Amino acid sequence: GSVDKGEYKHYMLKEIYEQPKVVHAAMEGRLGKDSVLEQAFGAGAGEIFDQVKQVQIVACGTSYHAGLVAKYWIEDLAGIPCMVEVASEFRYRRVVLPPGTLFISISQSGETADTLAALREIRDRVLASLTICNVPGSSLVRESDLCLMTNAGPEIGVASTKAFTTQLVALLQTTLVLGRRHGLKPETEARIVEELKQLPGLLERVLGLDPAIEKMSEAFAEKHHALFLGRGTLNPVAMEGALKLKEISYIHAEAYAAGELKHGPLALVDKDMPVVTVAPRNEMLDKLKANLQEVRARGGELFVFAGSSQAVEPEEGVQVLELPPVPGILEPIVYTVPLQLLSYHVAVLKGTDVDQPRNLAKSVTVE
Ligand code: G6P
Repeated sequence: GSVDKGEYKHYMLKEIYEQPKVVHAAMEGRLGKDSVLEQAFGAGAGEIFDQVKQVQIVACGTSYHAGLVAKYWIEDLAGIPCMVEVASEFRYRRVVLPPGTLFISISQSGETADTLAALREIRDRVLASLTICNVPGSSLVRESDLCLMTNAGPEIGVASTKAFTTQLVALLQTTLVLGRRHGLKPETEARIVEELKQLPGLLERVLGLDPAIEKMSEAFAEKHHALFLGRGTLNPVAMEGALKLKEISYIHAEAYAAGELKHGPLALVDKDMPVVTVAPRNEMLDKLKANLQEVRARGGELFVFAGSSQAVEPEEGVQVLELPPVPGILEPIVYTVPLQLLSYHVAVLKGTDVDQPRNLAKSVTVE
């Protein structure tokens, strides 16, 4: 192919480091001074968005996690119902969709068999279809009414990284164009547009933490299990962090909404089960703290990605990695990056085939 790794040891690392640039590409020409320009979605987008009463998102794998983040955004900012489902379930069951449903598929490749089948299954029963996709001219792009390209450029590493963060940028733009029709204040949209413009710089700063994350990764190389916790939009980010670790380091990892810890996974926590927590804000951390104490009391080692190191008392068995202050809306995008780097370094330590993990394919075009 025409893409090479350049100075990087793996495509995955190169793609992680490309994120400041590609999130910029995912916004270029789409943001006005204080609003999202809806022409980017294709001809007739405005008239379609005017009629949307609810959203159904369908995707697989990492793209599904992007959809889960979007659910929080769409319900919070646009105040309309949003459902999210993996395509392999959605396509095979009787789905009930009220009038005014916008069907959104999310896909890096635009060729995932289940996602494409879900679109074909449903398209006559929805208001319109929109795909958030990275490959121009792919099947999902050709067959959907509207599309918003993620502009991440070719992604070679099987474990998706830059495709995910650019999907989130595109989904946030989608949330804003829907929101403005459902009471989202122009000043709120303007503020978020302003914050989006800070994203490339924030991601650069997080990449600067790579040496510290590499050091942290040593604690995982000998482990067989790991638990990831998050709340709110950081819950799907925890899911994505766990998926990355599974995919490339072959360590069994599970993600839980932090509040569910006490309903089961706490029973698994001991000194051999590291617990990774993404908790950018103090309010969130306050809630998490009780859970964290329970983890510590069982000898579990904690790794906290937080917005301020003051938030968690440094003590034995607790490592805190401080990220720069991040506008709340951007947290899921920014906090994804350290988790990508963590899995990458664990995989390198374990000597796995980072770009081509065993048994997995970049694009699953057959069922
Ligand atoms: C495969 C890839 C994943 C990807 C998923 C969905 O499992 O290994 O990285 O998230 O397919 O692919 P899509 O191209 O539809 O986003």
